[in-house]
Amino acid sequence: MVIQGYPSPGDGLRLHLNENTGGCSARVLEAIRQVRPSDVSTYPQYREAVIATARHFGVNPDWILLTNGLDEGILMAAVGHIARARVYDAETIIPIPAFDPYPNSTAAVGATGIRVPPGPDFAFPTQAVLDAITPRTRMIFLNTPNNPTGQLISIADLVRISEAAPGALVLIDEAYIEFGGTTFLPQLPRFSNVLVGRTFSKAYGLAGMRVGVVIGQPQALDPVRAVTLPFNINGVALTAMHAALGDAEFLPRYAAQVRESRERLYAACRRLGLQYWPSAANYVMVRVGETAPFIEALAARKIHVRDRSKDPTTPGCIRITAGMIDHTEAAIEGLEAVVALQRGPGSTARQPQ
Ligand SMILES: Cc1ncc(COP(=O)(O)O)c(C=O)c1O
Repeated sequence: MVIQGYPSPGDGLRLHLNENTGGCSARVLEAIRQVRPSDVSTYPQYREAVIATARHFGVNPDWILLTNGLDEGILMAAVGHIARARVYDAETIIPIPAFDPYPNSTAAVGATGIRVPPGPDFAFPTQAVLDAITPRTRMIFLNTPNNPTGQLISIADLVRISEAAPGALVLIDEAYIEFGGTTFLPQLPRFSNVLVGRTFSKAYGLAGMRVGVVIGQPQALDPVRAVTLPFNINGVALTAMHAALGDAEFLPRYAAQVRESRERLYAACRRLGLQYWPSAANYVMVRVGETAPFIEALAARKIHVRDRSKDPTTPGCIRITAGMIDHTEAAIEGLEAVVALQRGPGSTARQPQ
């Protein structure tokens, strides 16, 4: 039987989808409680939410397209710029390892994805991306910080690639930028071929509400707008997003937890002799060797992490969400216990509390 959605690991600590492990702002829940029957029975109005979002990101409202999660924005960017334009020999450039919706959206519009492998230690392959640009290139997916490695792309490299591909749409996915790195937004007025993608799922803790935003000049955004359905986001999600934007203290508080959690994960990896990659996002990729026993032993302790080993670019790796510090500490205890178990008697592990 096929069931819609991402398989649920069951109850326990969800550290497998880079969610906000602390939940959303209390102000969001309060706003949802105020929803009136007519807010539910009528089609949503986007005007206020778009204006508030534009103000938040410091751009014109006509540079904003709210989407049903950034996932929808990624798909619609491909539909708007490739399928709608009826480009039959289109190529997209996908630096790997990559977020699945990039190859999936490429396939959905019948384009060919050109995968560009990373440099040593997952360094961003700027020259190889530049070399991959051809007259058939219609879209370039750039993800900073990268999911799953947490590596950043420098603004200078984003600029070089955007300049080198004036005939392609460059989608800069900044889903995790609130946790580290510099946004490309101040550069956007220079580029009519670039869209920046942001989401309220991660830093703001609204993954269940599904609100993303695609930002860019009308020349880049209008083809996406043209294929996006008029009532793509539900009214409760808009209310939640509005309230999240109104809580200025929430984000810095959570980002501080994430930074400290990352440091504790790094320290634990060093103690345990596990290779890890310093991350600018709310997760850390760790090489554990054979992943299955690790994933299973952690799951037995009700700690769910992401197995990255099926991706040939990340062999032997798992990805662990770095959220609230006490959640990270629980994960670290789990890691220590599994490593101790694997190393056999004589090795010590902290007991679960
Ligand atoms: C790199 C990246 N982009 C975009 C998204 C999509 O986020 P959402 O559709 O929840 O807004 C995610 C979610 O995991 C992601 O990792």
